[in-house]
Order: sequence, then structure tokens, then C-alpha cells
Amino acid sequence: MSKHILKIDFNNYFKLACKPTKHLVRSFLLENKFRNFHIKKYDEKKSLNLLKLKKIIKVFKNLRKKSWNDSWRSVYIAFKKNKKVSNLFPIYKDNSKIIRLLGYFVVFKNKHSFEKISELFLYNIFNFFNFFKDCKKILYFGCGTGKNILILKKNYPFMNIVGFDRSPYSGKIISEINKHYKFNIQFKLFDFFSPGKSKLDLSTRSKKKHGVLTIHSLEQTGHKFTKFFNFLKKINPEIVVNIEPELYFYKASNNFDKSMIEFHKKKGYLNGYVNFLKQQEDKNVIEIIMLKRLYVGSESHEPFNLIVYKFI
Ligand SMILES: C[S@@+](CC[C@H](N)C(=O)[O-])C[C@H]1O[C@@H](n2cnc3c(N)ncnc32)[C@H](O)[C@@H]1O
Repeated sequence: MSKHILKIDFNNYFKLACKPTKHLVRSFLLENKFRNFHIKKYDEKKSLNLLKLKKIIKVFKNLRKKSWNDSWRSVYIAFKKNKKVSNLFPIYKDNSKIIRLLGYFVVFKNKHSFEKISELFLYNIFNFFNFFKDCKKILYFGCGTGKNILILKKNYPFMNIVGFDRSPYSGKIISEINKHYKFNIQFKLFDFFSPGKSKLDLSTRSKKKHGVLTIHSLEQTGHKFTKFFNFLKKINPEIVVNIEPELYFYKASNNFDKSMIEFHKKKGYLNGYVNFLKQQEDKNVIEIIMLKRLYVGSESHEPFNLIVYKFI
């Protein structure tokens, strides 16, 4: 984790998103201390062809449960031994040297560039929007290796954080993080598809001021997110912040989005969630606070969209 992460003024960033040029995207990266990159023109045909070659496993296949567990076991072993933050970076099949930013492809020389961009945006999302300012506890569902907990802690050093995940290795990594950083993060086993099994003390929820967070994990539910939504309704949190890929944000008419739409559908990622939330808003169950695409992601897709709401 970088010692000093620069601040993004998202008001300026969203202005830039309206009419990004190669020059402005380059300036944005240089201002944020990124070096050794070049900006590539988007080749739609090549991207779609690449996608055909890739073996893509749908997220809700049972196989995925095992593969997450295997990945987090390797992370656990490496982090326990070396205690390096880079050990917490998941190894995805995506080329982590290539990112998508504001309608362009940026190719870096450094292999951890996606993680650096991810860190920059996540830190600034919490810092700029300060969604959890009225919360006493953050419930982070699908916390994975806990790498984002380090970013959360930078913004909210005294916040109680509970990590939830289906993989027990996630809990083992968090124990190591606790030992190493002298944190007191709790962990609970949790499944989005049967959330009621996770024992949460709901009786004191109104006093606790919970904030709910998911980062690239609700994506794994595809179109089966209603059980989780109903579970949240019972918790009645102050705020729900989902930082997720959602089909809703891509534009079918936009060439740059086409391969991402294909990829998203093939993966079976989150789909229909925003429209479902809009229906819930019409029924006065929730109030949607923010729906924003941040135009940043990996070679294959853009998982940084802000979906923020609260229960009424
Ligand atoms: C893409 S990773 C994201 C992890 C972390 N939030 C991050 O951004 O680094 C998805 C996480 O969701 C978890 N997951 C997948 N399916 C789940 C389910 N049904 N219930 C709970 N967690 C699940 C995986 O174990 C994994 O940790």
C-alpha cells in the first residue's frame, strides 16, 4: 500500500469523463505519479477476438467456490510468510498491466499497475465521498484477501470493520493482517445466497449505525441478489455502498463498451440490480443516493461503478 495516495477531485474527474482526450488522460495519470505507460487506441475487433479465445467460467458455477478458496489459500500462505501487501493482490487472468481509463487503453510496464489504479480510486472514493461518515461499523461483504481493508483503515482508522466472505481462507488472511498491523477486524463466514446463516446481532442494529460495503463481490451473484437485499433490509444500515460492475452502466451503442458487455454476460456478473433498486425506490423502500460510472477498469471490464442507497 502506497504511503501517500494523491487526492482526486471527482468533480473535475467527472468533467473530464464528459470529453476525455488522450492528452487529458495522460495528464491525469502523470499528475497521479504514474510513469512508464502508453495510451493505446482501442481495437474493438481485437478485443472481441481475444474474448473468444478466453476460457470464461460463469461466476455462479460451483467450480468458482473452489477456485476462490484455492486462490485465497495461496494468498494466505504467501502473506503469512512474507507479510508484503503485494502478497494480498489477487492474481487474476486479466493482464494487470493493461487498464481501461476514460475510454482509452493504458498499457503499463509495471505488473501491479491495475492494483495501483484500484488503490488510487478506492482510497479516493472513501476520501472524497466519505459515505461512512455517520457509521460506527462497516460490514464488508465479500472481503476477499482484505487488501481493501487496508485502504478503508487509511480513511477510517478507528472504524470497527467486519469482513464477510464464503472462503474460510479469507478469515485466516484477516487474522494475519490483524497480527501484523495490530488491527481488530472481525471475520464471519458468509454466503450471499444464504445470508441468514451468518449470525449477526440484529437486536442492537439501530444503535450500531452500520455501513454496508461490497467491492467486486456482489458481482458474483449475477441476477440472484434479492436474498442479500432482503437480508440488508433487516439490518437496516445507514448506507449501502456497492462498488461493482453492473451491465446497467455499459452502453450497447458504444464501441468501447461492446467487448465489456460480452465479457460481463459470459461471466454472468451482476445484472438487473440497478433496475431492481429503482423499483424499490418507487415503492419507497430505499432512496438511491448515487449511481455513477467511474470509467476505470481492467482490460476486460469496468468494475468501479458506485451504487449507493439507504433504506427508508
Ligand atoms: C473478485 S473477489 C473481490 C474480493 C475483494 N472485495 C476485493 O475487491 O479484493 C470476490 C470475492 O467474493 C467472494 N464470494 C464469491 N461468491 C460468494 C458468495 N456466494 N458469498 C460470499 N462471498 C462470495 C469470493 O470468495 C471473493 O473473496
